[in-house]
Amino acid sequence: MSKVRKSRVLVIGGTRGAGLLIARLLHQRGYQVRVLARNLAAAAAELGHSFEVVAGDLTKAETLPAAVADVDHIIFTAGAPSGRYAPERLVKATDYQGVVDTLAAARRAGFHGRFVYLNSIGIGTSSLAGTLINLLKRNTLVWRRRVEDDIRASDLDYTIIRVGFLLNRPAGERAVVVGQDALPLAPRNRIARADVADAFVEAMEHPHASRTTFEIVWGKGARQGSWNSLLDRLRPDPR
Ligand SMILES: NC(=O)c1ccc[n+]([C@@H]2O[C@H](COP(=O)([O-])OP(=O)(O)OC[C@H]3O[C@@H](n4cnc5c(N)ncnc54)[C@H](OP(=O)(O)O)[C@@H]3O)[C@@H](O)[C@H]2O)c1
Repeated sequence: MSKVRKSRVLVIGGTRGAGLLIARLLHQRGYQVRVLARNLAAAAAELGHSFEVVAGDLTKAETLPAAVADVDHIIFTAGAPSGRYAPERLVKATDYQGVVDTLAAARRAGFHGRFVYLNSIGIGTSSLAGTLINLLKRNTLVWRRRVEDDIRASDLDYTIIRVGFLLNRPAGERAVVVGQDALPLAPRNRIARADVADAFVEAMEHPHASRTTFEIVWGKGARQGSWNSLLDRLRPDPR
């Protein structure tokens, strides 16, 4: 009996935080998972033998072609480190140029899958929290807004998921709001990393998530409805 091969997914940012949860969830669901890592030994120790770990660094474009070769989908959650100062040079190299170089490497490799990109809410709506984050991680929201235009202008299939403040809490505890308006960055607009992981894995192959941009934050009360039904309502971005 022939066995159907599950898709191979590259997770960029899969060594920590939301990206690590996404990599583990993909593996649990039977996908082949490749993780890009700056520190191979640390990533291999964290992930174990059933993950493929490839060396790479977003600020070194020449390391990206090997990572994107022969993958069916790419999930990108990497970013300049949160919670501490990052100069604009590093922010631009990671949050902007790193994405642009990944898209270019994927195109050159003949990639035909979906590029699923994690962005922050608040990239187009001014707020006190957004101003403070732009001061700490210099202009990160400006570069992250600009990179969305590059993703939409590329000829690749994509899904852009903007997330609220990230918390380390279990998935499924709270209602989730999936919206296509621009929420401000504010502490009330938050969500668990584990819910974000569910959203990425569900959106990656959901037909209605193709060429869409949407935002996810916790709503009020308990979870109702499946991710599938939430994503069914998405509208594609204007061309
Ligand atoms: N914290 C929040 O509330 C919040 C809100 C909205 C959006 N975000 C964004 O959400 C994403 C996930 O956040 P998180 O806190 O869960 O994870 P995180 O701890 O910020 O992890 C960042 C990931 O990016 C990778 N990375 C950074 N620079 C890289 C480079 N030059 N080359 C390759 N990989 C690189 C890191 O790899 P290493 O292990 O090698 O460092 C790590 O895997 C980030 O992009 C963050 O900016 C965060």
